[in-house]
Amino acid sequence: MYLFDNNFVIDIITDRAGISAKYSDIVIFCLKYEQAFLSSSQLHNLRFVFKKHYKEYYQDYLIFEKKCKIIKTPSYVDFDAPLAEIDMDDYLIELSAQLVNAKVLTLDKQFIVMSNLAMHPDDFYQLALREAESEKIPFLDLKAAQQELSSELEQGFDRVLNSGWYILGAEVEAFEAEYAAYCEAKYCVGVANGLDALHLALLALGVGEGDEVIVPSNTYIATWLAVSQCGAIPVPVEPDPATYNIDPTRIEAAITPRTKVILPVHLYGQPADMEPILAVSRKFGLRVLEDGAQAHGARYQGKALGAQGDVVAWSFYPGKNLGAIGDGGAITTNDADIAERISVLRNYGSRVKYVNDVRGFNSRLDPLQAAALRAKLKVLDSWNARRAEVAGHYTRELADTGLILPFVPEWAEPVWHLYVVQHPQREALQQRLNQLGISTLIHYPIPPHLQAAYAELGFDKDDFPIAEKIHQNVLSLPIGPHLDKASVEVTIKALLAVSKI
Ligand SMILES: Cc1ncc(COP(=O)(O)O)c(C=O)c1O
Repeated sequence: MYLFDNNFVIDIITDRAGISAKYSDIVIFCLKYEQAFLSSSQLHNLRFVFKKHYKEYYQDYLIFEKKCKIIKTPSYVDFDAPLAEIDMDDYLIELSAQLVNAKVLTLDKQFIVMSNLAMHPDDFYQLALREAESEKIPFLDLKAAQQELSSELEQGFDRVLNSGWYILGAEVEAFEAEYAAYCEAKYCVGVANGLDALHLALLALGVGEGDEVIVPSNTYIATWLAVSQCGAIPVPVEPDPATYNIDPTRIEAAITPRTKVILPVHLYGQPADMEPILAVSRKFGLRVLEDGAQAHGARYQGKALGAQGDVVAWSFYPGKNLGAIGDGGAITTNDADIAERISVLRNYGSRVKYVNDVRGFNSRLDPLQAAALRAKLKVLDSWNARRAEVAGHYTRELADTGLILPFVPEWAEPVWHLYVVQHPQREALQQRLNQLGISTLIHYPIPPHLQAAYAELGFDKDDFPIAEKIHQNVLSLPIGPHLDKASVEVTIKALLAVSKI
């Protein structure tokens, strides 16, 4: 990452020193690969200089500025730092660069001598080459997500810091209203994480000791854990091998007089087949809780996921499509009673301070996380579209590799939380890709029924062969809103070369 100092920006845009042609490739490279930064302390200086002295280049500067990422200038300034004593502007630029571990491109010899972050553009190619050689393709670049929204996040955090209100309050309420609208649901209640969202939703649906809840045999263990936390028993149902989601045709056989809830998961970002699931639930008088942890923004039969069942539980774990800067979760529902119960349960079982109607929990969405989520909700659709672009590229180019690729039914609009392929020698494939610098993950290596945590349910190997085969063969390829096209192409090339093992 590279931060441009003021004079370098002016030199490049105006060519006042005749060096623009020499270094323009560097600037184009940085802008193209989203490596170009400016510190917020520079903005007013640069705008002022261009407006006053280089009016004819002002529009060019604004275009350039828009393409750069803006890093905040820290307020924790050490006035005794040697660089601060010599040149405060340079020192503030250095402080900003430090925050994102960027180098400062400058022609200022004194700056280069005084700061080990400052470098001459002549040294750029050597460094960029070294970095490119050692660079791996990340599975998901979370830092880039925060950097793209750094101004919006800063604004949100400042709002909360200066509000004097740090538990629930206006910021959480604003997010709840915005997320409910986004999900086409009447109510949203923010909680501390996705596991709590599932747990509190089950409690609100009246699930308790000895009840049974139908869960997919193929899911992240949190879905099962929430059931166990209520004293209830998870009853696994196998997935459709094509979609990885719970197979609605198998649900009826798993229903007993103790069944209270069906809990489908919209796994990997693809909606479960809700219509037949809801039909079974109606037939047997059951409630439906959807686990939407991996599917923010996904649609089923053209409708948003948000309240197709009785209630949806969401996780805002940082790596999710809508991810916080820490833990966070929520439920959405059209049922006022469920929303009310969950908002009481999340807050010590209390409607009125120090009056406790039920034995509740401390599971509240943090206002700082709500502020981050509000900023990220604004870009969720466009970031999901970028994920879809990566997925489309994989699907087109990997068709002849022999890998089993994701299948999308015509009623599903997935949001590509993960792009999961299957290969009979998954470990070997993962190792080869790793050697080629491509990071992949496995979602998930051991199905819940074979985890030590569920030994007491007495399940054995081969009890759920579809889930077990999936867990043995799946591999998740790099995907995310900040995965650049070049990295996708490198990954495809690598897969074309090594997938025939
Ligand atoms: C399917 C599923 N359900 C539930 C959860 C739990 O969410 P959290 O990590 O926010 O508790 C996760 C996330 O990790 C998940 O992937």
